[in-house]
Amino acid sequence: MEKTKIILDCDPGHDDAVAITLAANSPCIDLLGITVVAGNQTLENTRRNALNVVQWLGVDVPVYAGCGRPMIREKITAGDIHGATGLDGPVFPELKRKLEPEHAVDYIIRTLLASQGDITMVTTGPMTNLAMAMRMEPRIVEKIRRIVLMGGSYTNGNVTPAAEFNIIADADAAYVCFTSGRPITMIGLDVTRKVLCYPEIVERMGRVGNRASRLFVDLMAHFCKTQKEVFGWEGGPLHDPVTIAYLIDPGVITTKPMNTQIDIRSVQSYGRTNCDFFGYLHLSPTADVAIDIDADRFWDIVEAGLRNYG
Ligand code: BDR
Ligand code: CA
Repeated sequence: MEKTKIILDCDPGHDDAVAITLAANSPCIDLLGITVVAGNQTLENTRRNALNVVQWLGVDVPVYAGCGRPMIREKITAGDIHGATGLDGPVFPELKRKLEPEHAVDYIIRTLLASQGDITMVTTGPMTNLAMAMRMEPRIVEKIRRIVLMGGSYTNGNVTPAAEFNIIADADAAYVCFTSGRPITMIGLDVTRKVLCYPEIVERMGRVGNRASRLFVDLMAHFCKTQKEVFGWEGGPLHDPVTIAYLIDPGVITTKPMNTQIDIRSVQSYGRTNCDFFGYLHLSPTADVAIDIDADRFWDIVEAGLRNYG
């Protein structure tokens, strides 16, 4: 089977860390590089977290640090969910892994330009790095096979009633990406809120008994606690790994093509992904929007992903 080549652009983040875990050792995925952006926490935190995760997993994937603030708006973080470090919970050994010297945006440009148009860009944080790369070198746009993102919602947001974190954190960047004309699969809160990591799921993943599973359990101990405090969920919604699960097994989610526009103008709905579910606007679809997920199949993919670590 030919592996799907991806660059994973993320802001670890507990669920980003699980996405890295699934992508870095999958027989279906060729993880070319991890690029890091400010989002859940400052760039200083998110880049260290990415390095800690790859070191803990023992995977040899290069990590590049990217933008430390959004394109235009002021930076926001999600410390209420992910803690002061952005990855509160797990205790990592001394960090020996180093960042690559190249800036993430330069890496994305260089890698896409040299590619055969066969690289999928996966974003699980604010889309700043990818948007900046598109603006700096427009020739990369047609080289992107497709964009698979965790972000947005066609129903409710999680920062405001209208907006989801990854989009509102850099709505201009999302606007650039959503108007790029490349194929987009938008995996939003509408489906990620259907994969709540209940205590029995954590126990199940813990029974795998390897280092990936230990990391998962430590991550979820913090993540599920804060999700309960903030949203009242009994289990934390495992947002970001749905992107990787989808690339491993596209049948895990159902999508619907929709004209999707990012609101960068209004006050109340700033950062909303306006998805024309019913086709009122008679405009061409711009994204395949996830509308359902097979939760049992998703947890099977997560467990198999942890088992890939032996
Ligand atoms: C998204 O925001 C972040 O807090 C998570 O890592 C996820 O990418 C969910 O809205
Ligand atoms: Ca994230």
